[in-house]
Amino acid sequence: MSRVADGVNRPAPITIEIDGAAIPAHPGETLAAAMIAAGVYRMRDDRSGAPRGMLCNMGTCSECFVWIADGQTWRRRRACLTPVAGGLRAATREGQP
Ligand code: FES
Repeated sequence: MSRVADGVNRPAPITIEIDGAAIPAHPGETLAAAMIAAGVYRMRDDRSGAPRGMLCNMGTCSECFVWIADGQTWRRRRACLTPVAGGLRAATREGQP
């Protein structure tokens, strides 16, 4: 999936990191939007190992949990509620990368 380009003015892109890979994002969008625009649909695995992705896009289902680096620790956050910021590091599995 790609971003709509025609008729949309966005701030200059920033770079965020998903599972160690640098991807572009625009200030004002959510981490989930940036991940999907970059082709990253798998946001976590459930306990059986099945991939899970965004479902409600409004913070109620918890399907979009990812791990966000917070200093030396990683915290679980909903990607659909997390605004991107320069230097943001996220992982789709605990302890990655
Ligand atoms: S997609 Fe449902 S909480 Fe984020």
